Amino acid sequence: DDKHNMAVERTLSIIKPDGVEKNKIGNILARFESAGLRIAALKMAHLSRAEAEGFYYVHKARPFFGELTEFMSRGPVVISVLEGADAVAKNRELMGATDPAKAAPGTIRKDLATSVGENTVHGSDSAENAAWEIAYFFAGSELT
Ligand code: TYD
Repeated sequence: DDKHNMAVERTLSIIKPDGVEKNKIGNILARFESAGLRIAALKMAHLSRAEAEGFYYVHKARPFFGELTEFMSRGPVVISVLEGADAVAKNRELMGATDPAKAAPGTIRKDLATSVGENTVHGSDSAENAAWEIAYFFAGSELT
């Protein structure tokens, strides 16, 4: 049914510090636009450790939490809201698997990332989490 097929959605994307360090901002944003996703909000930020910890709160008990939040606060990131049909799944498809070595050819992580820890992009994994993640970084007036 069309409630679950190709619904217009929003999702949160982050180009992680490794992607910014490698000068891949334009490369990655172009992939989103070429896939038909509209950039509905966009900002660059250098997250504090506390901001990274708050964002990844669900992973608090995981063994990689310390490394992950240290990495995410290492340098600037590019945070965007992507909008379009099936935006959550479409962005996950463009990103590829969490482990770049297992990511499909042509995906962002396969093409640009080096390790599970430094995998270049974040993308919301559900519409519900997307709403929470978008509100974490953007005020209503920043969404277009
Ligand atoms: P996860 O939500 O499982 O992956 P994804 O980003 O594909 O949704 O994990 C969140 C991030 O945590 C992941 O992008 C990188 C980091 N991470 C590690 O550093 N080590 C790991 O073993 C896992 C599973 C994740």
